[in-house]
Amino acid sequence: MIKDIQSKIKKLKEEKDFCILAHSYMAQEIKEIADFKGDSYALAVKSKDVPQKNVIMCGVRFMAETVKILAPEKNVYLANSVAGCPMAEQMDRDVISIVKEQYPDYAVVAYINTTASLKTICDVCVTSSSAVKICKKMDADKILFIPDCNLGAYVAKQVPEKEFKLLNGGCPTHAKIAEKKLLEAIEAHPDAKVLVHPECQPDVVKHADYVGSTSGIMNFAKESSDKEFIIGTEIAIAEELQYACPDKKFYPMSKELICSNMKSTTLMDVYHCLNGECGEEIHLDEEERVKAKHCIDEMIRLG
Ligand code: 13P
Ligand code: SF4
Repeated sequence: MIKDIQSKIKKLKEEKDFCILAHSYMAQEIKEIADFKGDSYALAVKSKDVPQKNVIMCGVRFMAETVKILAPEKNVYLANSVAGCPMAEQMDRDVISIVKEQYPDYAVVAYINTTASLKTICDVCVTSSSAVKICKKMDADKILFIPDCNLGAYVAKQVPEKEFKLLNGGCPTHAKIAEKKLLEAIEAHPDAKVLVHPECQPDVVKHADYVGSTSGIMNFAKESSDKEFIIGTEIAIAEELQYACPDKKFYPMSKELICSNMKSTTLMDVYHCLNGECGEEIHLDEEERVKAKHCIDEMIRLG
């Protein structure tokens, strides 16, 4: 059944000139039919160069918006219109405009998990794989880092020469995992290396052997000579690694590490989206798009 739908999707996307992008948190059967899969940075950079006229993003809304910002000439669809990122919706342009007035000499660094509207008033975007490098490289010495205080705390530690102001945002999926859960996993698998996403709480991150983006975690595990790993990010990463490296063992840090927003997209959604029966085409106001593009261009330039 899954194979049948996958074949239909592959045929339809060729016929209708669609490119399918899938974030690493998608289910395996979606990643198998994607033209490209990867972390949010890789998908953002890739999207602007794909030859197809139409793009389906299997991920969350801010990722589809990022594609539209970078490639306005393409028809960009979010495979399932309910797939938002709660972190991206925590802070809006009005709130951050007020905060900026309180910190006028701070440059605003926005995690890419923000809305297009909020990006219009930020100086530069970062992803989890590029945040440290960009904060180090940018001219500013004072940084207001939004919205994720866990990623912000991790970056601030790696860039001690700069002053950081953090707000109280974060990913509800990663942030809910307490240190106790990780300690239980370490006790159950004492030989395992601990690989975590920087959206986790600092008390979790401090136990990590490696901290990185979803792609960073996968590359580290694949290249490592170690055989066991505790994976501190969405459960899809441990699953994909287990497929890719059957001789190694991957343990999710917690079975609660499931992003219901990412998981709301199904293979059938992709099929229906190709048929114009599901999903949502992304439309952005042109002035907003151009302003938001500035901070994504800066991310690509500095990253
Ligand atoms: P990556 O930048 O690692 O792809 O992460 C995006 C995300 O939403 C993690 O929760
Ligand atoms: Fe957003 Fe967290 Fe889901 Fe990533 S895992 S998409 S940050 S809610």
